[in-house]
Amino acid sequence: MRFLLAPVLLLSIVSCSILLPIKVNQAEDINIDSTPERLDRGEYLVEHVTGCTDCHSQRDWSIFMAPARPGTHGAGGEVFNEEMGAPGTIYAPNITPAALGSWTDGEIVRAITSGLSKNGVPLFPIMPYPNYARLSQEDIYSIVAYIRTLEPIENEVPERKLNFPLNLIVRTIPKQAEFGPLPYKTDAIAYGKYMTTAAGCTDCHTPMEKGQPIEGMEFAGGFTMGMLSGGTVNSANITPHETGIKSWTREGFIQRFKALDNPAARQVPLAANQVNTPMPWTYYASMQAEDLGAIYDYLMSIPAIDNTVVKYPDL
Ligand code: HEC
Ligand code: HEC
Repeated sequence: MRFLLAPVLLLSIVSCSILLPIKVNQAEDINIDSTPERLDRGEYLVEHVTGCTDCHSQRDWSIFMAPARPGTHGAGGEVFNEEMGAPGTIYAPNITPAALGSWTDGEIVRAITSGLSKNGVPLFPIMPYPNYARLSQEDIYSIVAYIRTLEPIENEVPERKLNFPLNLIVRTIPKQAEFGPLPYKTDAIAYGKYMTTAAGCTDCHTPMEKGQPIEGMEFAGGFTMGMLSGGTVNSANITPHETGIKSWTREGFIQRFKALDNPAARQVPLAANQVNTPMPWTYYASMQAEDLGAIYDYLMSIPAIDNTVVKYPDL
């Protein structure tokens, strides 16, 4: 019986996911004006907050904190594989105009927020579209306006290989996005939550099981990632618990990032036997101190979760 149950269960999950229609509308027929305000806001988000040019460039894993390699800005090619906790081998595509030149604005908005590629292929949510679905329409339009101005770089990126059954289940993940409001900065916690969502902090800081975040463990850390340069690292507990960042001051939190906002911090070679970190410290370092402070305020407001994490278990 036991032997039968597993394949039957798997088969029914798989057949359901093949039959289910993708719940995303046609790309909207829109034309996004590139106003100076949008280009400014888009540059700020894309280059310092939402991680687009962190993931969609090739990171140099021989440097501590793996900053993007010059000349690969937005050109894609970074790989996410099983060692790093991904269910297959997935590449960040080229998002420079060399690749997206033929996409309409509506198609780019749909990919970023609802998770469908131009040709209707459902994207795996390593691309954090479930987060971007909660941003404001104006912020998403600003992101699209700005990425259209990236320097075009020709770079063919290999096709992804998702493991069974996720190669079928992936169809059920894209959802039609509904934009959210951008809260006023005076509403500190709501604004901080928005910036935390935009920056994707939860994606690495919540442990996962079978590709899904474990409920009740939001921001509690312990998501294990293998580094291409060797060794493994566990994401830290960033909840306001003793085992998390309870003892961190607001100023100390901001400084932990801001101290890295200089070219020297992006050139520290990885020492022999040192394990690298995927946390894009130097990318976030140029976020505005005010926004880092808002992220801190939000993190201090979430449930404190008791979870002791050894960040570098191999050392
Ligand atoms: C954590 C890494 C990560 C971040 C951050 C990220 N992406 Fe992605 N993105 C990916 C991956 C990986 C894919 C491919 C997913 C797949 O093939 O299933 C992708 C797919 C895409 C696609 C579809 C391209 C195509 O050819 O199908 C677009 C457009 C895109 N991303 C734009 C963006 C923008 C704009 C941002 C910032 C707002 C962003 N991405 C942030 C990893 C990321
Ligand atoms: C790509 C994965 C990834 C993303 C995205 C990410 N982190 Fe991390 N973070 C890690 C890992 C892994 C560590 C542990 C290793 C280290 O300290 O760098 C870490 C460590 C930290 C620490 C140090 C905590 C300690 O006790 O030393 C803080 C604070 C932190 N992250 C905050 C954030 C915030 C805030 C965001 C969003 C703005 C974020 N992280 C996004 C992976 C990530």
